[in-house]
Formats: sequence, C-alpha cells, structure tokens
Amino acid sequence: TSISRQNWWVLLGDMGTGKTSLVLRFVKGQFFEYQESTIGAAFFTQVLSLNEATVKFDIWDTAGQERYHSLTPMYYRGAAAAVVVYDISSVDSFIRAKKWVQELQRQGNPNMVMVLVANKADLQDKRKVENEEGEQYAKENELFFIETSAKTAQNVNELFYEIAMRLAKA
Ligand code: GTP
Repeated sequence: TSISRQNWWVLLGDMGTGKTSLVLRFVKGQFFEYQESTIGAAFFTQVLSLNEATVKFDIWDTAGQERYHSLTPMYYRGAAAAVVVYDISSVDSFIRAKKWVQELQRQGNPNMVMVLVANKADLQDKRKVENEEGEQYAKENELFFIETSAKTAQNVNELFYEIAMRLAKA
C-alpha cells in the first residue's frame, strides 16, 4: 500500500544555525561552506519511503534573522512538524531555540511533532552547549532531541526519518 499525506514541516532557529544547510544536505546531498542567509523563507519538497508507506512532504526553511520573525507564524501554524535548530558553538542560539519552543507551545498546533536539533556537531572544539543541556531541555519539554552536522551529514537522514516515523504513527 502507499499512503500519501499532505503535510508540511517547518525549520526555525537563529540565523546561521544551519537550517538551510540541513535541508540541502537531506534533499540534495549538498553542503556549502558559504551558504547564503535565507530571505523570508525557502520551500523544498521531498518524498520518503517508510516500509510500505510513501510520505510526501514540504519543508519551509524560515529565515533566522530577527526582522523576519513576524512572518514565521504563517509557516508554523498548521505545520505537522517543527524542527528547532541551534548551533552547539553558540549559547545565544540555544537561548533563541528555547524561545522558539515556548512560542510553538503557546501558538503552534498541539499535535505537532517537535524536534530540537543541536547542529554543527562537527565543531567539537568550539562547543559551548553540552549535549546534556540540550537533551535535558528536550526531555523536560517532551521534544525529540538529536545532534547533527550538515557538514559531515551526521544524523541528518536520521532526523528527517524520525519525524516521518513519528507522523506515520500519529
Ligand atoms: P539563516 O538563513 O540566516 O537563518 O541561516 P541558516 O540557519 O539557514 O544557516 P545556513 O544553513 O545558512 O548556515 C550558516 C553557516 O553555517 C554556513 O556558512 C554553513 O556552511 C555553516 N554550517 C551549517 N551547518 C553546519 C555544520 O553542521 N557544521 C559546520 N561546521 N558549519 C555549518
């Protein structure tokens, strides 16, 4: 059997945390050291095969710059999944991620699958946010947590497959 779901996912997080890079790694297998900052939002579409089901979904990659903040509810309202990204080398980006989680808890779809992503896991020598801090926050807020690197591709497929699997079970 083949099940097709009309759904979209959204990526949120501070500027420069690697949202676009995660999507490009996943959708196209590409990574750019000098990835341009997103203006407004970017749209991607993807199809995944999960056992016997085919899941088709769209991804809205939002711009992290503060001036675009007022646009983001358009993308997260009604989203099936929200991926909140921070950069392990930036404490500020972790603080910003927690603010996103709070905003989604208040204003997002209550059934939304929420994921906290600690990106740039390849930058171990520049790490400012310990794995345990992210894990603990995710646990307290009932989020799925994963450390990724768009650069090395570590856990990138795992991240998106996990969301698809959680949605398929819902
Ligand atoms: P905005 O569009 O401004 O919100 O940024 P963004 O969150 O989409 O970040 P983007 O993907 O543009 O990446 C910002 C910078 O970080 C780029 O120079 C990327 O090459 C770099 N980058 C992204 N992911 C990783 C990663 O996993 N490891 C390392 N070392 N660099 C990364």
